[in-house]
Amino acid sequence: MPELKFSMLSAGRGSNFEAIMRHVAAKDLDAECISLITYAADCKAVDVAKQYGVPVRLVKGDNLLEVLQSENPDLVVMAGYMRKISEKVLEHFENKMINIHPSLLPSFGGKGCYGIHVHKKAIEAGVKITGATVHFVSKDYDSGKIIAQSAVPVLPDDTPESLAKRVLQEEHNIYWQAIRDFSKLQFDV
Ligand code: GAR
Repeated sequence: MPELKFSMLSAGRGSNFEAIMRHVAAKDLDAECISLITYAADCKAVDVAKQYGVPVRLVKGDNLLEVLQSENPDLVVMAGYMRKISEKVLEHFENKMINIHPSLLPSFGGKGCYGIHVHKKAIEAGVKITGATVHFVSKDYDSGKIIAQSAVPVLPDDTPESLAKRVLQEEHNIYWQAIRDFSKLQFDV
């Protein structure tokens, strides 16, 4: 199977990026990360890129489409990239751009629902199960087609932080597998 070329969009802690790169390095994900694209030059994701020899491309202002077009990835993988993606970019990379969200969408998604806020809402709502979702990126926040989900129990004494930690482990389990599945669909047909 030909190797999938992906660009990573991340501007924070970079733990999903790191988890994906671990599977690339272990060769259980047949893919090459051709670039980390970020708007935060000193974020932890940049450290991960350096560790794995991935070139870093800095986005300034509104030149994301330009940068992505010059990279021309088969897939754009987002994690912790907290900027709205313009319609131009979405049109150009329709069905080629994926994101991860720390809940079972469509629950606890939408504007303002990111990071720890998602887990606060899940605990406030009293749900007994939450989880992680990989989805295509579309015009509205967190509402693109769902690719993969994994459930995580909410325990009676959970805090948003303890729940976030458990969900993050599951994010790390499913994201690389979703990339592998995307790659199979792209190259096997
Ligand atoms: C992840 O938990 C991801 O699910 C969340 O941001 C974190 C990024 O962490 N994304 C959202 O809330 C999107 N609405 P990471 O930089 O360590 O991968």
